[in-house]
Amino acid sequence: MLRAERETTARERRMGSFMAAVEPGTEPFRACYGPWSVVLGASEGLGEAFARDAAGRGLNVVVAARRAGPIESVAAALRSDFGVEARAAVLDLGSPDFLAGLRPVTDDVDVGLVIFNGTGSFVGPFLDEGRDHASEQVAINVEAPITCCDHFGRSMVERGRGGIVLMGSGAGVAGTAGLAVYSATKAFMLTLAQALHEEWRARGIDVLGVVGPAIDTPNFRRSFDHDPNQLPRPAMSPDEVAVEVLDALGHEMEMMPGAANHEGYRMLSAMPRIDQARALSATFAATQRSES
Ligand SMILES: NC(=O)c1ccc[n+]([C@@H]2O[C@H](COP(=O)([O-])OP(=O)(O)OC[C@H]3O[C@@H](n4cnc5c(N)ncnc54)[C@H](OP(=O)(O)O)[C@@H]3O)[C@@H](O)[C@H]2O)c1
Repeated sequence: MLRAERETTARERRMGSFMAAVEPGTEPFRACYGPWSVVLGASEGLGEAFARDAAGRGLNVVVAARRAGPIESVAAALRSDFGVEARAAVLDLGSPDFLAGLRPVTDDVDVGLVIFNGTGSFVGPFLDEGRDHASEQVAINVEAPITCCDHFGRSMVERGRGGIVLMGSGAGVAGTAGLAVYSATKAFMLTLAQALHEEWRARGIDVLGVVGPAIDTPNFRRSFDHDPNQLPRPAMSPDEVAVEVLDALGHEMEMMPGAANHEGYRMLSAMPRIDQARALSATFAATQRSES
């Protein structure tokens, strides 16, 4: 749902006059989505910004990623900077049993918010990726979100409240040449978010799909090898994106951060599918450096 087409969501119905009476801040957010949050893929960049924003809104945080050193440092910084409880889990979202690394630090707490941020990606022609790497992207971007929504969604539905954020991409709005499998798996995440938003909104659960714009993360710089500030629309900072996304949770089904990005998304959404795929593919091609 685009912002202009908002409808009443689970959070708004649940909080009713309380939301109207209280300044947007930590209390309503914590009441809806606390006391614990889980951010999957949080050792740097956007995932770290999500974790810090959730802590700033008063939530305890479990952060997870593959690299032990960076994720332990993020958890320690959350404790010292925000005074919340924070735990770290070292796991690979591409592993079919990644929950085995997560459950020891989440089974004994009430998880009211899950942010699925980590991603698999490949930039280049489809035939250059190789079957194994493509399957790894499917494991991280398709199978792991299903596992995550099944595991945490179950207890949220039982409790009658909670929120889930699935981090998609503009490349998931239509097929994007040069990002074929990434684009297809991100379309899956956005569609899953839409479906669960509709299934669970009457049960008190807010599900939000994020159409990610260009974001200046370390991963973005490693993947694209070009200056994010030279894009037609400069990349957003992770902090800006995290704040906009968590502000939108409970108010929207799908959102694209950044006013200019949002406008572009509205225009794209109104186009025929073939034009969407061509526009996204051409825009992506224009961001690739010429090797000559
Ligand atoms: N950056 C952009 O321009 C952009 C654009 C559109 C959409 N998005 C979406 O925004 C999200 C974040 O983007 P990003 O990757 O640029 O930034 P990021 O949040 O800065 O970095 C990704 C995080 O995920 C972790 N991670 C990666 N693979 C993992 C795995 N297999 N298992 C566990 N953790 C894993 C990484 O840590 P470890 O390496 O320690 O595991 C890192 O902490 C993604 O969902 C992406 O699709 C980004």
